[in-house]
Amino acid sequence: MADVHITARALSALLGPWRNDDAVAYRSLADRVRLLILDGRIPADTRLPAERDLAERLNVSRTTVTAAYRELRDNGFLESVRGSGSVAQLPGTRPGPDIARRSGYLDFSKAALPAIGAITGAATRAAERLPRYLDDFDYDTIGLPELRAAIADRYIEAGLPTSPDEIMVTLGAQHAIGLIARTHLSRGDRAVIEHPTYPHAHDALRSAGARLVPIPVTAENGWDAADLEYTLDNSSPTLAYLMPDFHNPTGASMPLDTRRRVCRAAARQGTVLVIDETTRDLDIDRPESFPPFAATDDVGAKIITVGSVGKTVWGGIRLGWIRADRGVIRKLVAARSIGDLGTPILEQLTVLEVLPEMPSILESRRAQLRATRDRLEELLGERYPYWEVPHVNGGLSTWVNLGVPVSSQLALAARNQGLLIASGPRFGIDGAFERFIRIPITYGLADTEQAIDALAVAWQSILRAPVPDSALLAEVV
Ligand SMILES: Cc1ncc(COP(=O)(O)O)c(C=O)c1O
Repeated sequence: MADVHITARALSALLGPWRNDDAVAYRSLADRVRLLILDGRIPADTRLPAERDLAERLNVSRTTVTAAYRELRDNGFLESVRGSGSVAQLPGTRPGPDIARRSGYLDFSKAALPAIGAITGAATRAAERLPRYLDDFDYDTIGLPELRAAIADRYIEAGLPTSPDEIMVTLGAQHAIGLIARTHLSRGDRAVIEHPTYPHAHDALRSAGARLVPIPVTAENGWDAADLEYTLDNSSPTLAYLMPDFHNPTGASMPLDTRRRVCRAAARQGTVLVIDETTRDLDIDRPESFPPFAATDDVGAKIITVGSVGKTVWGGIRLGWIRADRGVIRKLVAARSIGDLGTPILEQLTVLEVLPEMPSILESRRAQLRATRDRLEELLGERYPYWEVPHVNGGLSTWVNLGVPVSSQLALAARNQGLLIASGPRFGIDGAFERFIRIPITYGLADTEQAIDALAVAWQSILRAPVPDSALLAEVV
C-alpha cells in the first residue's frame, strides 16, 4: 500500500493560499488537506510528506503540521502505516473497527456509525476538566449551563432562535422520547406515528398508553401531505411523533410545504408535535437543506424537538437533548426523577469538547455514508435487479422492497448465515411490512459486502423453501 506519494512541494502547490485568519494554523491546514482528499485531488492511499519536510516547505513549525496530521487522523482522513508514514484515506472505506461484529454475528440489526476517532481525546480532555465541577454538580437533571448554551447556539446557527432555558440535556434521544411520552400522554390518548417508524419510539408511545394512529411514509414519495393533514384534523391526536429529516427507516425527508401544513393542522388541533431530529445531520447529498423543523412554524404550534449525538458522534455516548418552551422543560425536569437522576457530568463535558468539531465530524460522516451507500446500491442492483432499492440521500439506512412478503423469513435465514438484520415488521404495527427489509448504510465497506454475501445465501435458501401462508397473512395492516 501507499507506493504513491506526494512531495512537500507538490502538496504545497495543491494547498494554495491555505491560511485562514479566523482559525489556528493547524486547523486551517487540516481543513484544506481534508478538502483535497474529499475531492480526490489527493487520492486515497497516497502517502503524505513527512511532517518535517512539509513544515519546512510551508514555513510553519513542525508542531503545526503534527497537530494538523493528528486532527486528520482522528477524523479518519489519515492512517499511520508502519514504514509508510501518513497515508490519505476516505473515512469509512477501510474495514475500520468491526463494530458490526458482535459475538460471532455481523450485527446489522442496528443502524449506527462507529465512534469518531476524536472521541478518546475529547473524553481525556473532559476528564481533565472534571475537577472544576466536583463541588457544584452531582445529580444533574437539566444539563450543565455551558452545554445547554452550546446546544442552543447550534440551533441559532441553523436559523432557530433558542435560549439555553429551552434546552434540557437527556440520556440520549430514546430517553427524551420516553420522558415526553410519559409526561404528555394518558391511557387511551391518540398519538400519530409514521408507518413505518423507529420501533423504540413506537414502543415508548405504546407503553405510555397511547392508541397509535399510523400515517404512511414511503421511501419513494415520503408523506402524503393531504392525508397527514386529514389525519391530524380528524383524529385530533394528543401527540404526533415525526422524523422529518432522513426518516428512519425510509430515509425520506419532508418537503417544506408539508412541514408548514403539519404545523397548521397541529396548531388547530392542539396536538403536540414531537419532532425527532436525531438523524437530521446525516446529510449525504440532499438537494435541499432545511432549518430545524420548529423554525418552519409560524402559527405557534406546540413543538418539542429531540436531538442527540448518538448517530453523529457515537451511540456509546448516551447524550441527547430536548428543545421546548420553558414551561415544558420545567414539567419534564420535574417528572424526570421517577426514571433517572440525571445526565453524567463526564459525558456532558465530553460532548462539550466535541461540539466545536461538529462541522468536520459531519463532513467525515458524509464521506463514510456516501461510500457505503454507493457500494450498497451497486451490490444490490447487481445481485437483485428485482428488488426495489430506493436511492437515499442521507440518514441511516435504505428501505428495500423485496417484492414478496418474506422479510421475517429472510431475517431468520440470514441469522443462520451469521447476519443479524431487522425485518420489515419490526418497523410496523401488527405484522405490516413483510415485503421490506432495512439495510443500514452505516457500516464499513468490508462488513457491508460480507452482509450482502450472507443475505444472498439466505435469499437463495428461502427461494428453495415455499413461503408459508402465515407470511402472506402477516402483510395485512
Ligand atoms: C430516529 C431515532 N431516534 C432516536 C434514536 C435513539 O437515539 P439515542 O441513541 O440518542 O437514544 C434512534 C436510534 O436509532 C433513532 O434512529
